[in-house]
Order: sequence, then C-alpha cells, then structure tokens
Amino acid sequence: MNEKERQAIDAIDSQMARLFEERMAAVERIAQNKKAAGAPIEDAGRENAMLARRCAELGNPSLEPYYSDFLRSVIRVSKDYQGDIISGQATPGANIFLGRGSLGRAGEICGICCKQALIVTDSGVPAEYPKTVEASLAGRVGHCTICTIPQGEANKNIEIYKNVLECLVRGGFTRTDCVIAVGGGVVGDLAGFAAASYMRGIDFYNIPTTLLSQVDSSVGGKTAIDFGEVKNIVGAFHMPRKVIVDPDTLSTLPLRQLHNGLAEAIKMGATGDATLFGLIENSTDLLSDIEEIIRRCLNYKMSIVNADPTEKGLRRVLNFGHTVGHAIEACSAGEILHGEAVGLGMLYFCEGDARRRISAVLSKYGLPVSHNIPANLLMDKIARDKKAAGDSITIVRVASIGSFSFEKINIRDLKL
Ligand SMILES: NC(=O)c1ccc[n+]([C@@H]2O[C@H](COP(=O)([O-])OP(=O)(O)OC[C@H]3O[C@@H](n4cnc5c(N)ncnc54)[C@H](O)[C@@H]3O)[C@@H](O)[C@H]2O)c1
Repeated sequence: MNEKERQAIDAIDSQMARLFEERMAAVERIAQNKKAAGAPIEDAGRENAMLARRCAELGNPSLEPYYSDFLRSVIRVSKDYQGDIISGQATPGANIFLGRGSLGRAGEICGICCKQALIVTDSGVPAEYPKTVEASLAGRVGHCTICTIPQGEANKNIEIYKNVLECLVRGGFTRTDCVIAVGGGVVGDLAGFAAASYMRGIDFYNIPTTLLSQVDSSVGGKTAIDFGEVKNIVGAFHMPRKVIVDPDTLSTLPLRQLHNGLAEAIKMGATGDATLFGLIENSTDLLSDIEEIIRRCLNYKMSIVNADPTEKGLRRVLNFGHTVGHAIEACSAGEILHGEAVGLGMLYFCEGDARRRISAVLSKYGLPVSHNIPANLLMDKIARDKKAAGDSITIVRVASIGSFSFEKINIRDLKL
C-alpha cells in the first residue's frame, strides 16, 4: 500500500524537477536584466507579498507554516542563483549542464522520457561516448538507435542529412521522440538541423565532445548544413532542450583540435571577458583549467545570445575574426581548421597591446599567426560570401582586451 503512495510522490517530485527548471530559467532572465541595469537582488517587500499571496492559495491552512518555509527556501535558492549569475559564478542557462562525468548521467540530467531516441555521432568520436549516453537512457527511452555519420566537415551535407532523416522516418519517430547529438560541431549542427526540420521540429539534446563545440557551437540554437560549397547556408534556429558538457570527453581529443577550440575561447575573452583571456594567457595546465574556461565562455555566449537570439545586432560580436577567418578557412582547402582561421582573422582587427597579447596567446597554444594565402584570393572569397549583404560589412574591432566596437566599412576598404 505504501508503495503506491511512494510512486505517487515520485511522480510529483519528477514534475517538480521540471517546474523547478522552468522557475530557474525565469529567475535567470531576471538576473540578466538586473545585471544589465545594475539593480539590486534584494526586494524584501515583493518577497513578503509573494509569500502571503501563495499561502492564501492553500486549501489546507494547517500546511501554511510548512509551505511558507518551503517557499522561503525557494526564494533563498533563487537569490543565490541570481547572485551567482551576476557575479559570473553560475553555469549559464537552465538548459546547460556543465560537469565532469556528466555523460553517464545524460538521461537523468536531461529528464528524457520518450518512446524513441536517435543518437547521432560520427566515426571519429570514441564509440564509448554514444554508448554511455545510450546506457544512461535505460528505463527512460523505449528504444535507442545510434546513427554514426562519417567524420569531417565535408560530411555536413545534404546527403548525410538525408540519411539521418531516413533513420527518423524508417524508425517511425513521432513528435514526442528526440534526437541527441554526441560529437563536435559537425554532428551538433547536422543533427540539430534534422531535429529542427523533422515533423517541423522535435526535441533536440546536444552533448558536445570537442572544445569548440563545448564553448561555442552547442549553445545558441544555430543549426545548419553546408550546401553548394557555401558553409552553413541551409539551417534553422532550434534551441536544444538541454546541452550537457562533460570536460572529461576532451581527454581523447587530439591536441590540435583542443587548441582549435581554444581559439574561440580566446575570441570571447578578447571581446568581453578579460579575466577569461588572462586565465588562458597564464594557464600552465590547460586541461585542469578547462572547466573554468568552458564555464566562463558559456556564461559569456549565453549573455550575448539571450540579448540577441536571432543575430540582429549584438550577437555579431561573436563573429570577431570570422569575416577574414572564414575566407582563410575556405581558401586553405581543409589545411587550416576553423578555430585556427578565426585566430588568424582576429589579428586583422585588433591593435596595440591587444594585438600583442592575442598574437602571443595564439602562439603559446601553437595556433598560427601568419599564413601565405594571397590577399586577392581572400578578398574575392569575402566579396562572394557577402554578396547578398551589399558592399558594406560590419566588422568587430578590439582595441583593448575585454572590450570591442563595431565598425561598418565598405568591403573595398578592408586592409588585408
Ligand atoms: N552552430 C554554431 O553556432 C557553430 C559555431 C561555431 C562552429 N560551428 C560549426 O562547428 C563545426 C566545427 O566543429 P568542431 O571543431 O567540433 O569539428 P568536428 O565536429 O569536425 O570535430 C573535430 C574532429 O574531432 C573528432 N572528435 C569529436 N569529439 C572527439 C573526442 N572527444 N575525442 C576524439 N575525437 C573527437 C570528430 O570525429 C572530428 O573528426 C563546423 O561545421 C562549424 O561550422 C557551429
């Protein structure tokens, strides 16, 4: 008999976990607004009025002292969370979980409960990672399928996208099922786009396993495939329901890929977080500092994405180094990786001490600081990429580490 009651309590607690997440997501938005306005966290008058209103809603008045204690602890936790967000201590976004060993707890952390899940990974990701995620879904998901696509940017294309859609159609996936990406930015972008477009959008979870995807591509909701030789030209905004970042997965990542991802972290530090930049600059053991680096990057990226989710203005700061970087990456025909090219691209738009420090930190991690691609080839590529936007482009400049400015210029005035 007690078993039945315990099951009822379990079900209520599960619902409370979801409600708690929703509440904290709203608290986070309030904290971001308070941070922007410099407003205080405390508002005793509002808290007391809220407590009185909530207690008045109780049907059983004898529960009031307990319920008011419960609400007081919810308020305290919410204020702690606001404080952590404002001081930059919190893992950002209620939909992001950062922690070592979290891969094996993916099912529980995501709260997934559905009939079917498609785990998309690629042939370069150690097979134990998708298998660990699959094992964590036992008892939560009726049937799991692992779809392994070939590794590499060249496979972020319409054929492979079609293969993933075929898996979903063949498996009879419905709107209440989900797609889970386990891999780097290629897997995340392609699987995310499949989830965004299948049945006009089904739930998507992202478990990034490269540094680049952990600090950057897994959050923000951009999904895409390459088409007609143009990168990311077909895609959609589709927010993952949850992103799980497990820094332990970086232990198998080749060093060049690790440093490639670090270039995006350097970009974020240079434009908006001088402490993050200093941390990377002074680190003597990157893997032991990596969790803090990732946390600061996620904080920074989410604060930008929350302020400008569809890239109408501020979000363009994340493109620091990308205008020329994309051209370098494309002209190098796969020789120069994305982050490496972004690092090179940054050097065109910073000056003085900022330039010296960016160049030094890139060199410290073996990232290139010069290349031999002729300027006219880069110009042609940039002009073609920006054709649709007209002759002018907005570039991001860094004159001092931790701050930036936008500048609108004519493409012809670019100095390469
Ligand atoms: N959506 C966005 O906002 C956004 C932002 C930046 C970049 N991107 C995209 O991200 C992509 C690049 O992502 P990437 O740098 O992660 O490259 P990637 O996904 O190609 O991964 C790099 C390599 O590492 C392997 N790998 C992945 N995890 C591993 C692990 N833990 N151990 C060992 N090997 C591992 C992969 O198999 C691959 O061979 C590009 O397509 C770019 O357009 C998207």
